[in-house]
Amino acid sequence: MTLYDQPRLELGSWPTPLVRASRLEARLGLGPLLIKRDDLSGFALAGSKARPLEYLLGDAMAHGHDTLVVGGAAGSNFCQGAAVAARAGGLGCHIVLPGHPPPPTAANLAMAVASGAQLSFSGGPREQLDDRIRDRAGELNHDGRSAVAIPRGGANAIGSLGFARAAQELAEQLAAEGHERARIVMAVGSGASIAGLFVGASQLDARWRLTGVSVSRPRATLIPHVRTLISGCAGELGVAMPNPATLKLNQGPGGLHGDSHSTSNERAAAVLALETEGLVLDCDYTAAAFVVALRQLAIEGPPVVFWHTGGLAGAISSYVTSGAGFAASCTGDRTSGITS
Ligand SMILES: Cc1ncc(COP(=O)(O)O)c(C=O)c1O
Repeated sequence: MTLYDQPRLELGSWPTPLVRASRLEARLGLGPLLIKRDDLSGFALAGSKARPLEYLLGDAMAHGHDTLVVGGAAGSNFCQGAAVAARAGGLGCHIVLPGHPPPPTAANLAMAVASGAQLSFSGGPREQLDDRIRDRAGELNHDGRSAVAIPRGGANAIGSLGFARAAQELAEQLAAEGHERARIVMAVGSGASIAGLFVGASQLDARWRLTGVSVSRPRATLIPHVRTLISGCAGELGVAMPNPATLKLNQGPGGLHGDSHSTSNERAAAVLALETEGLVLDCDYTAAAFVVALRQLAIEGPPVVFWHTGGLAGAISSYVTSGAGFAASCTGDRTSGITS
C-alpha cells in the first residue's frame, strides 16, 4: 500500500514552512541553516506529533475502534495530541501514566484531561508502559469497548508513516530552495519519527544525512528499537528495508530527560533561538537537537535542516517555573559551547 492509500485523518496544516534562519546565520557567521517548522503544524500543541496521529487515527477509525489507549509521562506531547486528535475523530482516549496517583502537574496532561481523556496509572516505570497500555486496552475491550493500544510516542509501523510522508514534503521544499544535499537533525524519543523519515527519504533516494538526537533512551537500546520501526514502516509500505547503517543516532548533549535537567548548552540554545529567530524551543527535545544541528553546521558544513518538532507546552513550563532564571542561567556568549 502507498502512503496515499493508507487511511488518514487530516489534522495538521501542511506543508509546514521551511525557513532560512538568516539572523542566526549572521550571528554565527555560518549557513545556510534551515528550520522545518513542525511547531506550526496547526493541531493543538501537538507539533510534529500531528503527523503520526493522522495515520493512527485513520487506522483506528477504519477498523471501527472507539477508544485510543496511549501512555507516557504527564508532560508527553504525544499523549496530549492523541487525546485531542481522538476528539477530532469522534473517539475516546485513555492515557496510562507511569507510577501512582496523583499525576504530576503538567500543561499537556491538563489539556488531555480537559479534552475528556481518562487516566490510569501503571504502578511501574515509564519503560514498562507499553505492556500496561496493552493490558488496559484488553480490559476496555472486555468491558465492551473497541479499544486500540498505541505504544509510547505512537511508535509502531502505522505511526511511522506520518514521517515517511513528511520526507516527500521536505524533498519538494528543499528542491525549491535548490538544495539537493542536506544534513537533517531531529530529536528522537520513541523513534517513530526518525524511522519514518529514514524510510521516506530512502524511497526518494534523497541525498540527505539524517541525524537523530536521542533524548529519552540510551543509544544502545534505541538502535535496535529504531531498526524494528524502520522494518515495520517499510513492511507497511511494501518496500525493501533500507540499510539502517546510514542513519546516525547520537545521544543528546544533555543526557536523557527525566534523569537530568537540561544542560546550560541546551538552555543557551533555546535562548539563542528565541532572541535571534523568535523560535520557541523546549529543553527536553528541540533544544537538544538544536545544539547538535548548530554543531553540525560548524563542524561538518551546510546546509543543515533543523527539524523543529514542537514541544511548546514544555517550553512554556520551563519559562514559568524558572522565570528570569532561565535566561539568567545562560548569560554571556550563547554560542560558545554550542558551535565549538
Ligand atoms: C517535541 C518533540 N520532539 C521530538 C519527539 C520525538 O519524536 P519520536 O517519539 O517520534 O522519536 C517528541 C516525542 O514525543 C516530541 O514531543
